[in-house]
Order: sequence, then C-alpha cells, then structure tokens
Amino acid sequence: MSNYSIKHLEEYYQVYRKSIRDPENFWSEIAEEHFMWHKKWDNVLRWDFSKPEIKWFEGAKLNITENCIDRHLATKGDKTAILFEPNNPNEDAQHITYKRLHERVNQLANVLKDHGIKKGDRVCIYLPMIPELAISLLACARIGAIHSVVFAGFSSNALSTRINDSDCKMVITADGSYRGSKTIDLKGIVDVALEDCPSIKNVLVVNRINSKIEMKEGRDQWLQPLLDKASKECKAEIMDAEDPLFILYTSGSTGKPKGMVHTTAGYMVYTAYTFKNVFQYRENDVYWCTADIGWITGHSYIVYGPLANGATTVMFEGIPSYPDFGRFWEIIAKHKINQFYTAPTAIRALAKQNIDFAEKHDLSSIKVLGSVGEPINEEAWHWYNDIIGKKKSPIVDTWWQTETGGIMITPLPYVTPTKPTYATLPFPGIQPTLMDENGQEIKGNQVDGRLCIKFPWPSMARTIWGNHQRYKDTYFTAFKDKYFTGDGALRDEVGYYRITGRVDDVIIVSGHNLGTAPIEDAINEHPAVAESAIVGFPHDIKGNALYGYVILKETGESRDHNNLRNEINQNITEHVGPIAKLDKIQFTKGLPKTRSGKIMRRILRKIASREMDSLGDTSTLVNPEVVEDIKNNVI
Ligand code: PRX
Repeated sequence: MSNYSIKHLEEYYQVYRKSIRDPENFWSEIAEEHFMWHKKWDNVLRWDFSKPEIKWFEGAKLNITENCIDRHLATKGDKTAILFEPNNPNEDAQHITYKRLHERVNQLANVLKDHGIKKGDRVCIYLPMIPELAISLLACARIGAIHSVVFAGFSSNALSTRINDSDCKMVITADGSYRGSKTIDLKGIVDVALEDCPSIKNVLVVNRINSKIEMKEGRDQWLQPLLDKASKECKAEIMDAEDPLFILYTSGSTGKPKGMVHTTAGYMVYTAYTFKNVFQYRENDVYWCTADIGWITGHSYIVYGPLANGATTVMFEGIPSYPDFGRFWEIIAKHKINQFYTAPTAIRALAKQNIDFAEKHDLSSIKVLGSVGEPINEEAWHWYNDIIGKKKSPIVDTWWQTETGGIMITPLPYVTPTKPTYATLPFPGIQPTLMDENGQEIKGNQVDGRLCIKFPWPSMARTIWGNHQRYKDTYFTAFKDKYFTGDGALRDEVGYYRITGRVDDVIIVSGHNLGTAPIEDAINEHPAVAESAIVGFPHDIKGNALYGYVILKETGESRDHNNLRNEINQNITEHVGPIAKLDKIQFTKGLPKTRSGKIMRRILRKIASREMDSLGDTSTLVNPEVVEDIKNNVI
C-alpha cells in the first residue's frame, strides 16, 4: 500500500526514507493505486544524468485527461471542477462541473481535430484567465497535441519568438482581456506577432470582451460557433508515458527563452501526489491558486494536479487591487476557500494596505496558506501568518521551478513544523544537496551552497525543445551527475532548507523569471543606445526591481534623459512585455569589464543595491575608473 496521504511527521520521515531507499517501488505503488492506465509500464525508471536521459514509466499507455476528468464522472460528475471568478465582481461566478468540463474539453478537442491538429503538433495558447484557457490545455492533451501556453502579458515579439521556436500550427486566443478597469487588445498583439510566424495556419478566437477586431480571412475564426457544432464526445488519444504533454518557456541567463518539455505520466503522477499532500486537499474543499496558467504554477496547481485529484479549483480572471485591495479576501469569503496559494509579491503589496481590507472579510474557511515563486521575507511571512491565517493555518513555502514541474521542497501542512522563510524539507522522492564552488558536496548542517538534486523525480523536464545540448549545458554540467537548480540555499541545524535566491543572471521580479539578455537586446534596439546592462536591486513589493545602466551613442547624448528613459521602457514593453520595465535607468560613460570583455555584473548589482563599501576586487577590470563614475551618479 502506498502512503498517498501523509498525516504526521513520523509518517513523513518513514515515507521519505522509503522513497530514497527504493524509489522504483515507491513511485510504482503510487502510480498503480491512484491512476488509470491503458497499459502498465515495463520500466519504472531509466536514467543517466550524463546524457542526460530520464524516462519514467516507460512502456505505459495513458491519457492524462481521462485521469483528470473521465474517471471522476461516475462519482463526481456534478461536483464543481473549475470555479471561475470573473474580473468584474458583479459578473456571476461560473461553476463548471466535471460532467460539463468533459463535454467542453471534448468539443474543443473535436474542433482542433477538424482543423488538422494531430498528436505531436504544437498549439500555442495565448489567453487570459478564463475557463477556455484550462479547457484548451486539456483539449490538446485529449488528442495528444503539445500545448505551449504563452502568458498573455507578453508582447507580440515574445509571442512570435515562442511560436517560431516550437513551430506551432495554431494559436488559440481571445479578442481581448480584462485587467482591473482596463482592457487589453490581445488579438491585436497576436496579429502583429503572426506577421513573422509562417507555421501558423489557424487562429481560434474566444469572444471575451466583445470588441471589434480584425479577422484575417482563411486564418482566423470565432471559436464559439465551431464549438456549438462540435460533438461532446471525443475519444482520448492513447499516449506513451514519455510523450510530450507540453512546452513551457522560461528565461535563461543568456540567449532566447528555453522551451522546457514536460512529458505525460511522470508529470501527472508527481503533480497529483504533491497537490494532495502539500495542500492536504480533502473532498469538498475549495482550493484557489492565484497564479496565471501562463506559468508553471498554473499548469501544475490550477489545472493538472487539482483535477487529477477530483478537486474544485478556482480560476480568477482579475487582479488583487480591483475594484479594491480587498478583492482576494472577498473571494475567499465568497467561495469559502480552504487552501489559498499565492506569491510573496502579492502578499507584500496587500500587507501595505489598510488592514480593514483583510479584516472585514470572513477568512475562517482557510486551512492552508501557500507561497511560491521567490523567497518570502520574514515580515511578509508574519503578516500572512497572523492576519490571513490567524496564526492557525500553516504556511507552506513551496520551492520549485518551471523545470522541476512540481513542488520539490516544502513543509506539509499540519505535518512539518514551519519556520519563517524556510521551505523546510524535501518532498518524498527528492534528494537535494548543497555543492561548494569546487564541485564538492557539502555535508552536515548549518551550511550554505548551490542547490542541486542528486536523483531524478517523475516530473522533471526531459529536455529543451529543439536543443538538448543546451539542456545538458544549463542543468547538468556545472556539477557532475547532478541537476543544478541555479539557486543558492542554506541548510539549518535540523536539515531545513532556506532558498537564498538565484546565483546566475536570472532576476526574479514580482515572482517572474526574467533573463537579462532579451531585455538588454530591447534596450539596445533604441537608436540612441550604444550598450546596456541590467541588474536587480531589492524592492519592497516586487522583491527585486530592474536597474539599467545605459551607454548612449554620441548622437543620443544631447537628448532629454527623461524622454529617453520613457522610450527605452516603451521598447522593453514592446519587445518583452510590461513586466520587464526598468525602475531606474542610469546613463553612464562605460561599464566595468573584464579583460575578456565580460561585464562585471556583480559590481553593478552592488552599486544598484547601494552596497558601495563591498564592491570587492576591481583590479581585474580593464577600466576600473568607470566604477567611481558609476558610484557617483547612482540613482
Ligand atoms: O529562484 C527560485 C524561485 O523561482 C525560481 C523558479 O522560477 P519559475 O521557473 O518561474 O517557477 C516559479 C514557480 C514554481 C527558482 O529557481 N523560487 C520559486 N519558489 C521559491 C523560490 N525562491 C524561494 N522560495 C520559494 N518558495
């Protein structure tokens, strides 16, 4: 018998030990008892981190949508699967039952098939947080198409890069989206993107805001009339365990975004099992994760993990500040939310508001609070614990990544004693380790180092779409035979982990991963700019904000600096998206460089963070004199 639901600390340690001692048995028991297979696997696990090659449940046949929907129909057909809360609080919430979800997914799957989408084809999904978004993921999975969701806050440029990288055949989008009191012209962004995307044959458009948009003849169609004609039955495509389920792009420290490829069986088993235990979901609970499905958190813990457990999962279209800063708390009271999962940046922004916004709502339904996306600082942790959790609901500070597919280091609520700012202990099956700069494992406790994982887990990304070498170089070469996370961490005296942040050039702003390269490219596109470098600096609400150092061309020097700053941010909005805008821009004559021409970001980071006294050794620079100049003109 597997321990599908872990109830107390002794049991956690027991399950954890079993998962390490005999991983194959451990995972096969869980897979066998809790999921529906057309055929069982021949091998539980085959792996070699030196290639790297990782295969879980090889030989098994399944469809993830049968596990997320069909198998619940007999017992939970009338239970709400997706509870949709619209942007406008006066618009009715929608309760989509498992039965209705089954019909809607099948209808869309049939529409996709009618448009020539087959197993293995890539479909780009660029939608706001409306039910059609979750339904699109599931419809792709129903017929074995690989979905590639692009967050609907990304620009047309970012969208076309992602479409082209994976040769998508189709885009599913909407006429527009609501964001608080504003609307966003999504279809207009798609139209610009598609000027450079020859692989796209069809665009299906959801009518969300009733706006007048252009429909390109032969390419674009409104989705609803097609759905109305489609059958509500669609046989699920039988997939191999290792067939790709989706691609999701994440930023790297250099180069273009990486299309992380997740496969079917291992991802399903791991997201379902973590969901069950990290949120202690019980039948009839209402669970809400505030992330956007455009990010991995939404894929794993709004769609697949909850639905695989037959849960009720809330999708919220709006933002925490509309119509006022009480919106999250109002929704919790309205739907009697039991598990609430959000990001530290939202917690910090809400903690700054008048306490009445939270206190006037009945939050007594809450049993578990979650945090994800970046380190949660002590102050935010206490506010969340005291004001929202009333000191009775444990906070699960969950550490994981797009690449890991599921939660890796986390407390289990009512099981693991929590400690502010600590993600605490590895989930069963996860073998973290800390490495020093010489590539040696650091043993013992009260130590810090680079966080690696020593052994495969079922939901790890298998490759980078179209570039396996980059997958190997990014994750498996820094430390031999280990997966390198890119994060630093410390381990305290009882073995709890605390994630200290990225050790590479990825900057996490409001919980969003931003690579420096595409932002610097966008800045350099400006005709007055010669060169630029961006770094992160601490910010009260966003965690980190972006600071840009920009060298102007001679022709740009006479220009008004404030106008230039606006234009540079406009370029970033167009090329990457508004989330990547710079908070501060310093114009400078030079950037500190090593003899090999590499920008010394460490120095720039310290100056932007106003840690001028600890710049370290600058003697290896070719131009140490620029450091003084930059220091003197810091903003
Ligand atoms: O630096 C870590 C940080 O977010 C990175 C992964 O970002 P992304 O792939 O966008 O996935 C975010 C949602 C899973 C990590 O490398 N991070 C994520 N969760 C935490 C965290 N840092 C500290 N504490 C966390 N709980």
